[in-house]
Amino acid sequence: MSSPAMILLTEDGSPTLYAPRFQATYHSRHGALQESNHVFLEAGWRFRITQPVSGPLRIFEMGFGTGLNAFLTCLATAKMRVDTKYISFDLYPVEPAITDQLMYTGMEDPEAKALFRQLHQAEWEQDASVAPYFTLLKSRQDICSASFLPPSDLIYYDAFGPETQPELWSESVLSVVASALAPGGVLVTYCAKGDVRRCWQRAGLQVERLPGPPGKREMLRAIKPF
Ligand SMILES: C[S@@+](CC[C@H](N)C(=O)[O-])C[C@H]1O[C@@H](n2cnc3c(N)ncnc32)[C@H](O)[C@@H]1O
Repeated sequence: MSSPAMILLTEDGSPTLYAPRFQATYHSRHGALQESNHVFLEAGWRFRITQPVSGPLRIFEMGFGTGLNAFLTCLATAKMRVDTKYISFDLYPVEPAITDQLMYTGMEDPEAKALFRQLHQAEWEQDASVAPYFTLLKSRQDICSASFLPPSDLIYYDAFGPETQPELWSESVLSVVASALAPGGVLVTYCAKGDVRRCWQRAGLQVERLPGPPGKREMLRAIKPF
């Protein structure tokens, strides 16, 4: 068994985790909250909800980790009343003893704190209605062995970086990810590597480079044409 994740503070004052198993942090050391907001919420979620969706917004996240992306999305979803089905894969869930210690801005509000706990306490492999507009399904699946992913309107590709887990950025995995996007669907990642961009272009996505969060020049956003 590998050592448990350790909490560290990032430059914007928000915590992230360090995973000894991967020798990597779960977010940018320049700011965990800033990165999640910039890459996943602003470039991903906010952009996607300006386009029409038929039925609930289906979000797939690679890597549940600290639950920060799910938490921010759930809060945003409640404000805008966007019916959402959120599916997240994580092969190595973080122990509750660690996630219980995480504290993000907004969690001074007892309701927000309770919501964060609920996201973590939700049973794995089961749909959980954690908020009026938000259903969560966490699954301990290995993305590398998935030949099919849930059809999605929005994908947060939040794997550890290609230097740490190159297998998660291989052409075969990235093309399975691309094929899960519904027409008009949007995929975002903090990674801006040329190889990754070209893989998704070969898979038929329109990929753009966008300014990254503090400390990172660029990120990627890809769209599946109709
Ligand atoms: C960068 S972290 C995710 C950060 C997370 N989105 C958050 O908001 O905290 C990457 C996650 O991928 C998970 N992971 C690593 N290898 C995996 C695999 N083969 N399949 C599924 N999940 C994996 C790790 O356990 C880790 O939680």
